[in-house]
Amino acid sequence: MSNIARHIAIIMDGNGRWATERGLRRVKGHERGAEVVRTLTTHASNHPEIEVLTLYAFSTENWKRPKMEVDFLMRLLNNYLKNETETYIRNEVRFETIGDISRFSPALQEQIARLKETTKHFSKLTQVLALNYGSQDEIARAAKSLCEGGEEITIESLEKSIESSRFGPVDLLIRTGGEQRLSNFLLWQSAYAELFFTPTLWPDFTPEELESIIDDFKKRQRRFGGI
Ligand code: IPE
Ligand code: IPE
Ligand code: MG
Repeated sequence: MSNIARHIAIIMDGNGRWATERGLRRVKGHERGAEVVRTLTTHASNHPEIEVLTLYAFSTENWKRPKMEVDFLMRLLNNYLKNETETYIRNEVRFETIGDISRFSPALQEQIARLKETTKHFSKLTQVLALNYGSQDEIARAAKSLCEGGEEITIESLEKSIESSRFGPVDLLIRTGGEQRLSNFLLWQSAYAELFFTPTLWPDFTPEELESIIDDFKKRQRRFGGI
């Protein structure tokens, strides 16, 4: 039986370089990147296998960027969630997030809560945006809450308290933009994920490339430690 790509996670990297290569400001790459998010999510919602698509949109380390770029990303996210609400509804996509959004503006937090509420009954696809997400932060927060509750730390108890594990293990993890690292993304859930690195910059990534990666994924032998 071939592998099932139930949960796909993507590190959407390369927006800045895409823009710089064209003599544009970096933020133009983020704008184009948001359009690719829409195209890919719509494609995934019509895919028979994909149940969860987790997208790395903003890491706990991305606050280190110039304030102007961070502000732009926050505005872009707010506008995206507002303007694309109809797309979520039309494609029956449930919107979810992982990461600590308490550092976002109250208006953005409200927008996030609103879209979650509006889409919570949909089940064709769950799109999980990783926002102010860092895997180490998430694992540390889970361990802290177990300690405070006087609970034993085991693989099972940790797994239950790690926020993002409610979406299940990652089957296929893709990074665009050519770097071959995980940048603090879903470290726990990717323990047995199949990894794919493509040089394609995120604004150039297409559903066709996703399909060709899924074809390759199907040919990989997942042993999970067995023989
Ligand atoms: C990824 O693209 C998007 C975010 C991290 C928000 P980058 O902005 O990291 O693009 P490069 O890596 O500089 O090209
Ligand atoms: C990873 O990309 C984070 C996101 C895609 C949101 P970065 O561009 O921030 O990662 P590094 O700095 O190259 O590791
Ligand atoms: Mg980058």
